[in-house]
Amino acid sequence: MNILLTGGAGYIGSHIAVELLHAGHHVIVVDNLCNADAKSLRRVAEITNCEPLFFQTDIRNEAYLRQIFAANRIEACIHCAGLKAVGESTQKPLEYYDNNIGGTLTLLKIMHKYNCKNLVFSSSATVYGAADTLPITEATPKKPCTNPYGWTKSMIEQILIDIQHAAPEWNIILLRYFNPIGAHPSGKIGENPNGTPNNLMPYITQVAVGKRPQLNVYGNDYATPDGTGIRDYIHVVDLAKGHLKALEALSRNCGLQIYNLSTGNGYSVLDIVKTFERVNGIAVPYKIEPRRPGDIAACYASADKAARELGWRAELGLDDMCRDAWNWQKSNPDGF
Ligand code: NAD
Ligand code: WQD
Repeated sequence: MNILLTGGAGYIGSHIAVELLHAGHHVIVVDNLCNADAKSLRRVAEITNCEPLFFQTDIRNEAYLRQIFAANRIEACIHCAGLKAVGESTQKPLEYYDNNIGGTLTLLKIMHKYNCKNLVFSSSATVYGAADTLPITEATPKKPCTNPYGWTKSMIEQILIDIQHAAPEWNIILLRYFNPIGAHPSGKIGENPNGTPNNLMPYITQVAVGKRPQLNVYGNDYATPDGTGIRDYIHVVDLAKGHLKALEALSRNCGLQIYNLSTGNGYSVLDIVKTFERVNGIAVPYKIEPRRPGDIAACYASADKAARELGWRAELGLDDMCRDAWNWQKSNPDGF
């Protein structure tokens, strides 16, 4: 299939590109490189021996998108492009709403114009907010979001639900990612944050490689077994494979569907630190700091619906995630 992959030069998008190319799809990447390096796509080509077609543009550039659709018979879109830093979104809400929602609306208009009505959207666990019961399932009610980034995801979901409701010929899958970590086992692509990492695993790998003196553990007084926050970490390669399964469902005219991409397992911050140290034989010094505002104690989700309906389950474990994250960081201490 000819697949348009927005945000395909980014962390998750580049891993999706690898899986799509391995499966024989024709991949057309659109990315403005606001949070990515085009070298990631060269690495994708090294891994797969196939070159994705790449257009450097903002998805809000309607005229450019139109040209891309006119020149390529695009059959489905995987829409990963977006700004994703929770803290930054509270400082720059307009930028986040404009980029994430504005970008999605432009993409949808052009898809409609070119009669491409198959879409997979990168949504997030953040739409569940602080859920009342665990594990989270797709039937767990969404809660108000605590930051503009989260609201962009929640609002885009609603826009997509409304569009599919009005025009049932659209096939739309909302994939709610939990905490993607790790990297491709080749060590050629991985997470490459600008500046100080916001997320746990890239912070740990930067401590391990000597770029930062220690990890700050945000809170050890949560109601969890060791007091630190619990999350559902998922290997980025498993996550990427979930998109292939979603594409198959689009081809079966699935209508509107929502799936958690998670493992069902919750690990604490200290579980991650200890596993990283054991698997890689490297120390990660840490210090307990106060809780980070906006954090919740625990979040993990059932992926049974994806297993049942898509035939997808995460196959890699925490050891794999820690090994591959470190393999990427140590082979690329300064990123791409
Ligand atoms: P990323 O920043 O590495 O990738 C996003 C890509 O989109 C980047 O390459 C960026 O340059 C591009 N981009 C942003 N705005 C654009 C625009 N207007 N036009 C064109 N390109 C644009 O982030 P990621 O971790 O790979 O996340 C991919 C998607 O998954 C995002 O939508 C994110 O919100 C979502 N998501 C990520 C996580 C996570 O923890 N990484 C969790 C849940 C959901
Ligand atoms: C994980 C745990 C922290 C950093 C975020 C977004 C969410 C989604 C995934 C996009 C928490 C602790 C972290 C550090 C720490 N993204 N931590 N020291 O907050 O679960 O989710 O990324 O959709 O929307 O909110 O992930 O990796 O930031 O934190 O102790 O330096 O690690 O307190 O318990 P989070 P995270």
